[in-house]
Amino acid sequence: MNEPMSPALIPQTDLDLESLWMPFTHNRLFKKQPRVVTQGDGMHYTTADGRRILDGLSGLWCCNAGHRHPAIVEAVRQQLDTLDYAPPFQTMHDRAFELAAKLAKLAPEGLDRVFFSNSGSEAVDTALKIALAYHRARGEGSRFRFIGRAKGYHGVGFGGISVGGMPANRKAFAPAMMPGVDHLPHTHDLEQMAFSHGMPTWGAHLADELERLVQLHDASTIAAVIVEPMQGSAGVIVPPQGYLQRLREICSKHGILLIFDEVITGFGRLGHYFASDRFGVSPDIITFAKGVNSGMVPLGGAIVHQKIYDAFMTGPEHLVEFFHGYTYSGHPLACAAGVAALEVYEDANLMARARKLEPVLETLMHSLRDEPNVVDIRNLGLAAAVELAPRAGEPSKRAMEVFHYCFDHGALVRYTSDIIAIGPALIASESQLEEIVELIRRGIRAVA
Ligand SMILES: Cc1ncc(COP(=O)(O)O)c(C=O)c1O
Repeated sequence: MNEPMSPALIPQTDLDLESLWMPFTHNRLFKKQPRVVTQGDGMHYTTADGRRILDGLSGLWCCNAGHRHPAIVEAVRQQLDTLDYAPPFQTMHDRAFELAAKLAKLAPEGLDRVFFSNSGSEAVDTALKIALAYHRARGEGSRFRFIGRAKGYHGVGFGGISVGGMPANRKAFAPAMMPGVDHLPHTHDLEQMAFSHGMPTWGAHLADELERLVQLHDASTIAAVIVEPMQGSAGVIVPPQGYLQRLREICSKHGILLIFDEVITGFGRLGHYFASDRFGVSPDIITFAKGVNSGMVPLGGAIVHQKIYDAFMTGPEHLVEFFHGYTYSGHPLACAAGVAALEVYEDANLMARARKLEPVLETLMHSLRDEPNVVDIRNLGLAAAVELAPRAGEPSKRAMEVFHYCFDHGALVRYTSDIIAIGPALIASESQLEEIVELIRRGIRAVA
């Protein structure tokens, strides 16, 4: 089948598009072929020209309870009727305490102190600063290095791009990269693990590279290792069995903090509140954002082990212990949405629902194996990706065309280099998953 793209399918809009500089977007092409949404309900968006788009990506891996969940909307509305804003420095509002207590209960044992930010990028910078200051507070100020991982995505702050491992996100800013950062190799090896279902059996040994980096730099200089438990933005790169356990062992052996960046993996993406639960590996710090309030109002943060918090709580009580924070750290609307979202996840049993849908999505995605140009399929929880062979001389164009095809025919997916990724909301039905995968299939055939 070869289904050419019809310009008539591209959603139309009479908006003035010129003033907005869009993030992570091919602005010029977008403005020639704008795809603008104006409404969201449950699993769907509506475009400016009235078309329904099935959301295969939970917005951007964040609206895990679907769009405009009534209970979360109502909580935000009520919050607006009660308190708009309160300064988080030296005062605080009730909702922030309420949400922090809920998160502490859900997080792995020992991780029970919560610092709020507004985004995943800020969550990461917060975690890196906590790690440095923690070692310094304990008299180990020589620990200034961070170890990230190739293909890692930790947002767009200078800290996040320095520990991150995506060349395109780093190269224009190379002179401003944080010093003292090294990287583990990624675990994406098509020869060894293509078409793995769930966690690949090959690759745990790649964690031993951390021992080599420790030898090279000496443990006494390394503050923390930061990884996404499952790499989301690089295209759903699932950790090999035993890999994260091995990282944990090596970090513990050398007194290095382990940070799990759970901005995508938290709040149900892998069928649990945290990937740490799924993998049975406890880090020292978890960064979160996105799904914490189902993407309703910007919110992120770091959940830290109590031993870390306690190390700061020395010195005179009237002195600030950590010189860090944001005007909107734990904004009342964001926290109200967070409290409500956690209740929705719990009441609707959405973690269990995600676990039940996982094998359905796995079977559907792997049915794409024999489609043209497919070189790998990966899945875990409600995240999955199909990787395509790049067109000669035009990297990422084939996947971009599949992305456009899907949107123009009624589904939102994501593309990154030549990978199509999906991460549907935990409320998706089996037939909606089928619809998304069938559109990807048609798109792959159409652009072949
Ligand atoms: C693992 C991870 N960390 C950090 C971020 C950055 O989050 P934000 O875009 O909210 O700054 C992302 C965003 O996708 C992410 O996936």
